[in-house]
Amino acid sequence: MQKAANITWHESHVERVVRTRLLGQEGCTIWFTGLPSSGKSTTAFTLEHELIKRGYLAYVLDGDNIRHGLNKNLGFSAEDREENIRRIGETARLFADAGLITMTSFISPYREDRNRARELHKKDGLRFIEIYVETPVEICEKRDPKGLYQKARRGAIKGFTGVDDPYEAPLNPEMIIKTGDNSAEKIAADILDYLVSHKILSESE
Ligand code: ADX
Repeated sequence: MQKAANITWHESHVERVVRTRLLGQEGCTIWFTGLPSSGKSTTAFTLEHELIKRGYLAYVLDGDNIRHGLNKNLGFSAEDREENIRRIGETARLFADAGLITMTSFISPYREDRNRARELHKKDGLRFIEIYVETPVEICEKRDPKGLYQKARRGAIKGFTGVDDPYEAPLNPEMIIKTGDNSAEKIAADILDYLVSHKILSESE
């Protein structure tokens, strides 16, 4: 829903293709989704580093980080999670339009919300690559680097994804990764291969 009245779209004088030429890359969004502690952020930040090393301009929008700033007024109710993902879908679209290889690392538990972010990109002619970080809850819970599963199990957090809040796995993700069996470097290399073979990145060096 658009609240404001009397607003008019102002077209830029610069076409996207000019930015693409300037940067030598086409902006896109790589959307990581999965349970808490599944390895989304580790993978996204490792991939960001690898992309920058190869001369691509890349940037990660990370759930915990964004919740310190842009989304600091949101909690974990269904409505707030939906709004969290709506804002990130829009932000990622803007970053991708600006020309960045944009990565998002959010649980993004609801299929419909992720699909909405995908549609936003599609409508705007921007590539959207959904990557399901398919780590079984038992492994996530064993890792538990922030001790949150433990807190949720003893009832100190209510509505924790994977314990007493739902996670809807993607039905048709572009890629599935398994962080239980492989190092972050190996997974980042696999994603790079995918991006090159699908012509999302121009070349691999
Ligand atoms: S999302 O569901 O709205 O996509 P998001 O990825 O932004 O979640 O934030 C998840 C992070 O918030 C987790 O990594 C965890 O550190 C923290 N967190 C705190 N409370 C919860 C909760 N109830 N459910 C899930 N994550 C939580």
